[in-house]
Amino acid sequence: MTQRIRITDVSPRDGLQAEKAIVATVDKARLVELVQRTGVDEVEVSSFVSPRWVPQLGDAADLFDLIAQGKPDGVCYSALVPNGKGLEAVLAVNHAAREAHGIERLIDKVAVFVAASEGFSLKNTNGTIEEVLKRFEPLIPRAHEHGLMVRGYISCIVRCPFDGDVAPVAVGDVSTALLNLGVDELDLGDTIGAATPETIDPVIMEVIDRLDGRATNDFGDPTLTLHLHDTFGHARDCVQMALELGVRSFDSSAGGLGGCPYASTETTRAPGNISTGVLVDAIRSSGYETAVDDAALFEASEYAAGLIS
Ligand code: HMG
Ligand code: MG
Repeated sequence: MTQRIRITDVSPRDGLQAEKAIVATVDKARLVELVQRTGVDEVEVSSFVSPRWVPQLGDAADLFDLIAQGKPDGVCYSALVPNGKGLEAVLAVNHAAREAHGIERLIDKVAVFVAASEGFSLKNTNGTIEEVLKRFEPLIPRAHEHGLMVRGYISCIVRCPFDGDVAPVAVGDVSTALLNLGVDELDLGDTIGAATPETIDPVIMEVIDRLDGRATNDFGDPTLTLHLHDTFGHARDCVQMALELGVRSFDSSAGGLGGCPYASTETTRAPGNISTGVLVDAIRSSGYETAVDDAALFEASEYAAGLIS
């Protein structure tokens, strides 16, 4: 039987967080609706971060309110949280959806994020790696108490826009720290699209080693996800290398939207995520399946591209 690969579409979050123009909440809701129709397993809807830092996503609670009643069975909704304040906002959204619409859990998963490099950690989250990890200590058990899954992102797994090359062992050490804190899934972010199959191979092997044989978690999902940005056109080859190494879960964005505002330098703007179309094609040509419907993906991708043009 052909193995199905898990896909998270991050376009409403990573796709829109770095756009100069702030997209209207109703248009984001339409994007979520189109993206979830494509057949992806998870939609990363927004972030509960400081609106001073990312004003583009300051409407996260309103967006969830708008999409609450259209959530299909079997699709996971997730959101980024950088600290306890973000988690409390997620719990408040879930509480409101339960009271208003009887939805047991609108947001299924929270994603914490930390960098493998000190430079990016400071720029993106105003703290050292150690300080950022400390913020997650009370957050993760509280998320679990409320039945939420927890994804742990690690950014700059190959190169940092401020510190340069990142050693695989540094990614491994942050992975171990996140696993010890109780995350259910590690998500490796090539934040600036620097990876090639040759440079991503040792990083994935290092992290698989740290996972110590745990390929799936208590929720039955893969413990390891790959989050590629596609600056130099290597993302497709990296997907194929990752599949060979055993990775069974990937992030992408409809229409290739995306980029982290704090990964841009004065001369280089942070690039978009790998597009869902490229990801699906890479998966299929490696002999694996996805649940993505091509016509629905075309519609979502066209709409996504139109939002930022
Ligand atoms: P800070 O300034 O040190 O935070 O930022 P603070 O605790 O001092 O608070 C400052 C203000 O923010 C206060 O408001 C807080 O209440 C408020 P004031 O009293 O001044 O009015 N605040 C919040 N408001 C709403 N929700 C919150 C929250 N927290 C504080 N959760 C902080 C530290 C982590 C908050 C900040 O740096 C931040 O929000 N960073 C987020 C940056 C971000 O979202 N980056 C993009 C996502 S990561 C990414 O894109 C990479 C990824 O795609 C993977 C990859 O590609 O590698 C995931
Ligand atoms: Mg990203």
